Amino acid sequence: MCGIVGYAGRGCAAQELYSGLKKLEYRGYDSAGISTVCNGSLYTVKRSGRVEGLQSSLGCLAGSAGIGHTRWATHGEANDSNAHPHVCGRFALVHNGIIENYAELREELRAAGHTFLSQTDSEVIVRLIDSCYGGDILGAMRLACARLKGCWALAVLCAAFNGFAVARRGSPVIVGVGRDGCYAASDIYALAGRAHSYCVLGEGDMALVTAGGIQVFNGEGEEIFPPFERVTERFAEVGTDDCPHYMLKEIRENARTMRATCKKFLSSVDVCALSARLSSADKIVLVGCGTAYNAALAGARILGWACDCPVSACIAGEARYDPPSFTKNSVCIAVSQSGETADTLRAAEIARGAGACVIAVTNVGYSAVTRIAHTVLPVCAGAEVCVAATKSYIGQLVCLHLMAAGARIKERAECILKLADEVEKLASDGEYASTIAKLCARSRAVFFLGRGCDVEVAVEGSLKLKEVSYIFSDGYPAGELKHGTLALVDETVLSVVLVCDEGLADKCLNAVEQILSRRGRVAVITTLPRVAERLKGRVQAVWLLPPAPFHVACFLSATALQLIAYRTAVLLGRDPDKPRNLAKSVTVE
Ligand code: AGP
Repeated sequence: MCGIVGYAGRGCAAQELYSGLKKLEYRGYDSAGISTVCNGSLYTVKRSGRVEGLQSSLGCLAGSAGIGHTRWATHGEANDSNAHPHVCGRFALVHNGIIENYAELREELRAAGHTFLSQTDSEVIVRLIDSCYGGDILGAMRLACARLKGCWALAVLCAAFNGFAVARRGSPVIVGVGRDGCYAASDIYALAGRAHSYCVLGEGDMALVTAGGIQVFNGEGEEIFPPFERVTERFAEVGTDDCPHYMLKEIRENARTMRATCKKFLSSVDVCALSARLSSADKIVLVGCGTAYNAALAGARILGWACDCPVSACIAGEARYDPPSFTKNSVCIAVSQSGETADTLRAAEIARGAGACVIAVTNVGYSAVTRIAHTVLPVCAGAEVCVAATKSYIGQLVCLHLMAAGARIKERAECILKLADEVEKLASDGEYASTIAKLCARSRAVFFLGRGCDVEVAVEGSLKLKEVSYIFSDGYPAGELKHGTLALVDETVLSVVLVCDEGLADKCLNAVEQILSRRGRVAVITTLPRVAERLKGRVQAVWLLPPAPFHVACFLSATALQLIAYRTAVLLGRDPDKPRNLAKSVTVE
């Protein structure tokens, strides 16, 4: 959700910023821009489209300090004038976040003689800073920020200063020190290979960054000295290895994620304390957005089996305005790959404010959700670059399954580890996924159906397909079909039916028959040989997965659906790593 970078050092700022922006592009790819400062002048290049579009103009950007931005459009379409940096007087600014009172501020600034050059909310910030400036950059930023409502991570360049300043509230900023200079970025991966140590700025903090070092200040303007951590190998630059896309590479890392997450859980989580907390809870509410919400849905089912209290899943964006009535005995489980999703953070804060115990399930150990949570359950998926979440979802499922296992945790972990070997083999499948992807690519709409534990996997499979292929899709319980949606079924619609629970298989097959009688097309994914046998030749495709207990078959079926979504996107010529209109890490509301 917009990426910002800053650099001040001995190297060429334009090159440093360009390489940082390339790594942040997953946060938004509507437009990109860089400003540098050299001998008291600002230089800016910005345009709509991807970061690569800046490459030919880097030579116009003199200087060894600057800021850069890659945009996910919120206010104003993706064109050159709405691209960041925004420039006013002596200042250039890049922003990640949303300014909610921008319309009032814009009117006020217009009345004072400002002419706006973009439709963005961000431009008001640079104009406010310029009007507040009296020789002290941070002072001007502090005055300007005091007028803002919303959330922001800012990097600001001033013609009078050979460095840059950053500020944050609600959106992340990491600062780092390297051999050739000092850096700032929206995430640590942009600093990997360049900075040797880093610090995550606290809420409301600001920093002045020059080639010589970084000074950090709290919201009151007092200098503070937060600890800097070493940038370790786990943040190293990630490539696509031999895969054509990150999405495929990351699906192929599902098995590794299952093993690493199991290992970390068993070695670092105080299982007794966790079980005690869950068993004394008066209610457990899981919150998340998108794929993380779909993992929360699965978690609610399995925790519901294991715990005596009511367990539910809530879309975080809804929970923040209509929060469940938490007490000090309640548990809120915040599920988030990035740990920076604005809606999830707010829902977790509300739960914590009400005295509930907050447990974070996250892939990013230094993220904002870890600072809200009482307990962090680490997902060990490594960097996930593709906008569509795949391996992180699998890791979230591992954490939730282990959490729900209670005293049988060792047994559950063994079962998951055994399945990891099967998931590994499955992820290299080309044949079945391609067959079903061809059917999807030819369909007007695709429904994903299942019963019991297969329902949540179907819902996630549907989200995956729609986000990377742009085909209309929906996922829900197979038994619901006849209550309305069956009206949409004809020969142009495909239904992908998951059948992994022997106890519900025949019920699921009823839905298959109802679809076939309306000339609908069907692909079945099952762990049950008898189901595969029965449907072979009657439906368009049958994918027989290795056998697995029904409650953990999700690791296999989810991997299969991820592969189908990926193959469909590729068949249709979409970029699965950067789907249109989307960005990873949604730090605005
Ligand atoms: C997943 O494929 C999506 N890109 C999206 O739904 C994502 O899961 C959601 O925005 C939540 O992100 P988080 O896990 O980082 O909180």
